[in-house]
Amino acid sequence: MTEPTSPVRPLVGRGAELDDLDDLLSSVSAGGGATVLIEGEAGVGRTRLVEALQGSAALLGVGVCAGRGAGPGAAPYALLADVLLAPAAHREARGPVVAELGALLDVLPADRADAPARYARADELFAALLRHRGEQGPWVLVLEDLHLADACSLRLLAALAGEGPLPHALTVMTLRGVPHRVELDAVVAAWTRAGARYLELVPLAPAATVELAQHLLHGAVGPALRGVLATTGGNPRLVVDVLRTAQACGVLERSRGAVETVGSAWLDELDDVGRAHVAYLGADVLDLLGTASVLGASFVVGDLAALADEPVADCWRTLRHALAAGVVHARGDRLVFRHDLVRTALYAGLSAERRRALHARAAWALRAAGAPSHVVAAHLERAR
Ligand SMILES: Nc1ncnc2c1ncn2[C@@H]1O[C@H](COP(=O)(O)OP(=O)(O)O)[C@@H](O)[C@H]1O
Ligand SMILES: [Mg+2]
Repeated sequence: MTEPTSPVRPLVGRGAELDDLDDLLSSVSAGGGATVLIEGEAGVGRTRLVEALQGSAALLGVGVCAGRGAGPGAAPYALLADVLLAPAAHREARGPVVAELGALLDVLPADRADAPARYARADELFAALLRHRGEQGPWVLVLEDLHLADACSLRLLAALAGEGPLPHALTVMTLRGVPHRVELDAVVAAWTRAGARYLELVPLAPAATVELAQHLLHGAVGPALRGVLATTGGNPRLVVDVLRTAQACGVLERSRGAVETVGSAWLDELDDVGRAHVAYLGADVLDLLGTASVLGASFVVGDLAALADEPVADCWRTLRHALAAGVVHARGDRLVFRHDLVRTALYAGLSAERRRALHARAAWALRAAGAPSHVVAAHLERAR
């Protein structure tokens, strides 16, 4: 299997998206400016797509400055400093602005209110660097994982949107819907108003999911393995992790050109993959999703509310995060788990006692809601 870190990596099922980005890149090479927001669930392939774009930029000789949100606790302007002050980013233009910013960042107090003038000066200098970088020629500005970016960078990015696209720049921002942050909403709204292209990266279609596995395994995929791949819901990271886990557990077997899984020795590890995939969600969200897992791959929110003994409105409030994260999607008043791998893992993570109690309660709630007797009986069976 090709390791995800190997230099030769496939880009499967994203031809249309890459074409779009390449077109924007050409328009920037010809002198324009363009901005694109790429949003999608964790592991859907935002970084992989941006890497492919960076490959196109390298072919065209267009420079790239890239940085990513560093998560909670990041220093003020950490994202912009990552992009603009890293030694490699500004080799050509290490001038007084970079020097002043470097010195300023060292003395910025954590609390903005302490030193408004210093923050204003930092805003001004970063804005100048962003505005003028294009004077050296077209460039690509990659701002990855905006949902994890520091608030100062986000505030400045939102303010800059009022001037329209950065001159001679293709600005690419990637983000996830969770964690939800108001500073991030402001950036997205401001750039949307400024005409930014919005590209929602959806999971891979089933055929592309199998194709990705075939690339990684260098062989055809047998029916049992296809079945497991279907539970990834087309999330490339889950595909990569499932195959890596299968390989580590020694359950992959190759015969007559096809790769197949044998035995059940890896099922616990597979559950770990599913749980790790959603571990970044809040405990209350995971707890409610665990309860929902008892109801099956899709469930009516009213039934979940009865099962969780919570008002329906409270359930929705919690489920909003799961929806934004792409763990479930809505079909009317029904929610559907996007990756059955995750649902199975959440179910497996319930203690035996809790699982039995939830099935007993589900039998009661579903009977009250008019579910057919065989559904009720199936829950009673598991309540024993
Ligand atoms: N279209 C794709 N084709 C092949 N591999 C992909 C594709 N999209 C993602 N991957 C692989 O899946 C994993 C997760 O993708 P990544 O780009 O890191 O996701 P994200 O940035 O959205 O969280 C990586 O190992 C990546 O190389
Ligand atoms: Mg990423």
